Amino acid sequence: MLQASDLHKIYSLGKEKIHALKGITFSFKKGTMTAFVGPSGSGKSTLLHLLAGIDQPTKGEIHLNGQILSHLNETERTRIRLFQIGFVFQRFFLLPYLTAEENIELPLLEAGIKRIERVKRTKELLSLFGVENRADHRPWQISGGEKQRIAIARALANNPPIILADEPTGELDEANTKQIGKILKNLAKDGKLVVLATHNHELAQQADHLISLRDGKIEKQ
Ligand SMILES: Nc1ncnc2c1ncn2[C@@H]1O[C@H](COP(=O)(O)OP(=O)(O)OP(=O)(O)O)[C@@H](O)[C@H]1O
Ligand SMILES: [Mg+2]
Repeated sequence: MLQASDLHKIYSLGKEKIHALKGITFSFKKGTMTAFVGPSGSGKSTLLHLLAGIDQPTKGEIHLNGQILSHLNETERTRIRLFQIGFVFQRFFLLPYLTAEENIELPLLEAGIKRIERVKRTKELLSLFGVENRADHRPWQISGGEKQRIAIARALANNPPIILADEPTGELDEANTKQIGKILKNLAKDGKLVVLATHNHELAQQADHLISLRDGKIEKQ
């Protein structure tokens, strides 16, 4: 369903080149949860961004449902990101001028979902993540952990078959981390493809595949 073959990413900063990924090959299967662990700077976020088509590999390919991501144009990639992939950013990227509820609703709006259904789905997600009482708050009026949960809710809004979550529990306490782990695991059980990057070993242990990245390479799987 989603496959990375020999992915390389080289960032150029002036004369300096940073070889962030050095040949990653892996097949992700629906109905499974895969966790990437590894030291800070080992390439976890870079890999997730490439898988989502947010950034382009320097070399190598990503196959998604029989298509090669880099062969698609920007409009096609945007459609895939809207309907196929739910992405949870390490730094959330909630829109500051929208309320929590509006942030979650945004992908539904972009997908052209009717208002009555948008309201229903948004309420469902606010309650699943225990942030119903923050619906009308804006990102600067809520805690880091609440922002994180709203960012995850937004990624799930369109019920995408693929969920890519970058450090989804970095701001959460133990109880909420467990809860997010459960939600992600259940999504995989329901047949979704879940990939996460995390420094949290308890969360990583719940994955079906645990992969260690080191210096842009798969060290252990
Ligand atoms: N936009 C960029 N431009 C230049 N270098 C970058 C860029 N993004 C990441 N890097 C570098 O690429 C390497 C991998 O970074 P990446 O963010 O993928 O690591 P990570 O494993 O997600 O780390 P963390 O656990 O801290 O989130 C690092 O050396 C980083 O400094
Ligand atoms: Mg990262």
